[in-house]
Amino acid sequence: MTGKIRRFSDGGALAEAAACHIAEAAWASVRARGRFLWVLSGGQTPVPVYERLASWHPFPWAETHAFWGDERCVPLTDPASNAGTAQRTLLDRVPIPQGQIHLPPGQVSPPEAAATAWEADLHQFFGSGSAPAFDLVLLGLGADGHTASLFPDDPAAEETTRWTAAVSGEKASPPVPRITLTIPALRGARAVLFLATEWEKVELATRIVGEDIETRPSPAARVHRTTGATWYLAEGA
Ligand code: 6PG
Repeated sequence: MTGKIRRFSDGGALAEAAACHIAEAAWASVRARGRFLWVLSGGQTPVPVYERLASWHPFPWAETHAFWGDERCVPLTDPASNAGTAQRTLLDRVPIPQGQIHLPPGQVSPPEAAATAWEADLHQFFGSGSAPAFDLVLLGLGADGHTASLFPDDPAAEETTRWTAAVSGEKASPPVPRITLTIPALRGARAVLFLATEWEKVELATRIVGEDIETRPSPAARVHRTTGATWYLAEGA
């Protein structure tokens, strides 16, 4: 599947456009299906987008359901928590019903049990179909080609049936255990939006979208090929 790239002069312009993209997707989903099933990204890149959406009007928060692409196995209060970061910068500041915030159970130990519990929660919401029908999946990109917590050469990136997996996170930053959606879980998304705001990642994204033959496609490249993602890129911070 092909994808498309939009390039921006700096991170601020990218964040403004990404917030608009998400709001438009939200209204379109609500018009079509009565709700907006949104997978939020971890990492720091989306934070300026979340902060803009916190005061974005109008936005169908009453019809929005929040999910995550991955979570670090730390307390929600830990700055490393993806869900905690999204709550502090966005969800605590908008009228989204608490019952529509579907937190990954990152606090469950061990991570394998957390992944199993998370998959059960997702199957309870989506049923046992082939993949969750997310309306929009927001993803970041690592310079090594990872996305969510799907890292190159990690078994989680090779999962072919389960919707979630546990990841040791030894090579990640921060190097903590994680739980992540898998490629089968992302395959059913109606739309995927990648954000990258560092030149090294912009270079990698350009190669991925350009279908530059990689010796072994990175997890981000495989998600792109599976979903035909859109990429918002800015080399300046
Ligand atoms: C995570 C993220 C991860 C992130 C990229 C980019 O939990 O680490 O899901 O995939 O999106 O590593 O991170 P930054 O946006 O902080 O550069």
